[in-house]
Amino acid sequence: MIFASDNWAGASQPVIDAMIRHNTGTAPAYGTDPLTERVTARFREIFEPHVPVLFTATGTGANVLSMAGCARPAGLVMTSGTAHILCDEWGAAEFHTNGMKLVSVATRHGKIAAGDLAAEIEKHPEGSRFGVPVALSLTQASECGTVYTPAEVAALSAAAKARGMVSHMDGARFANALVHLGCTPAEMTWKAGIDILSFGATKNGCWCAEAMVVFNPDCVRDLATLRARAGHLFSKSRFVAAQFDGYFGDGHWLDLARHANAMARRLADGLAAAGNKLAYPVEANEVFPLLDPATIARLRAAGAAFYEWPEAGRDENRVAVRLVTSFATPEADVDRFVEIAGG
Ligand SMILES: Cc1ncc(COP(=O)(O)O)c(C=O)c1O
Repeated sequence: MIFASDNWAGASQPVIDAMIRHNTGTAPAYGTDPLTERVTARFREIFEPHVPVLFTATGTGANVLSMAGCARPAGLVMTSGTAHILCDEWGAAEFHTNGMKLVSVATRHGKIAAGDLAAEIEKHPEGSRFGVPVALSLTQASECGTVYTPAEVAALSAAAKARGMVSHMDGARFANALVHLGCTPAEMTWKAGIDILSFGATKNGCWCAEAMVVFNPDCVRDLATLRARAGHLFSKSRFVAAQFDGYFGDGHWLDLARHANAMARRLADGLAAAGNKLAYPVEANEVFPLLDPATIARLRAAGAAFYEWPEAGRDENRVAVRLVTSFATPEADVDRFVEIAGG
């Protein structure tokens, strides 16, 4: 019963098979191999336009290099109060951008509303000593397991663009959001005004495969150089490409995300039916029920792994916990968790 995080799961078999399949002979290094080229072309088919794609080792790397590419002196990055880039990346964005400031915008259920973003931007006119707005970073699916609709992304991007800001999407759980919405990758990104995307695949079945997908090359500079200087240029890039090859083949990536989301839905429905309140709507692969200490202890004693998440909610005798499902979550684990939680 592993619900600690989706990155506790291994890699999916087709991803591993692809790595083995492509482990023959030699190939040019540093992303100049034919497979990297082929996979980059596949990204273009998926996203429709002619987009530069740069692999990174981690989601953090993709996020902070995206910000580095658009950095300006005294720049501000607007993001949600729960954003990974703000709360969980060790100040990497500030470090890689020569000290751009991350500003937390009013956040509900992990998401920002366009009106709140516009109000925050208003507070910082050009020339402000506090700093000037440079970028917006949205997380899709959000850290609370909620999903922005394409219309919401478009409204936020429009508010950002009205001030000449760059619109970035942290897509660590891109596929989970996409299958929830049932729209196309293009509709969820550049057609809604996103300029640059951190495309995550590690949490959804790869071993280590993330990428920056650049829809608007005019707004980011020197990305390839910044990536190399940050140590994110793989010499054996073909193995990252191989993971994407296995991941994208026959819609495998979407099947993996559909399973993870279905397991979260099942978990949420079971817990709610047993009378447990949920802190956030369940739209992707995360569930935040409020549980009492005895239930938490019973679940842990039965071997369940999960984190307490008090920032999502607490009352006198209950605290929120975060449950993350993955492509590998067995249905039986969900049912057992629900049964134990039910007493
Ligand atoms: C929303 C979000 N963005 C980015 C990341 C960063 O990924 P990584 O651990 O690969 O740096 C994570 C990882 O937990 C995440 O949840």
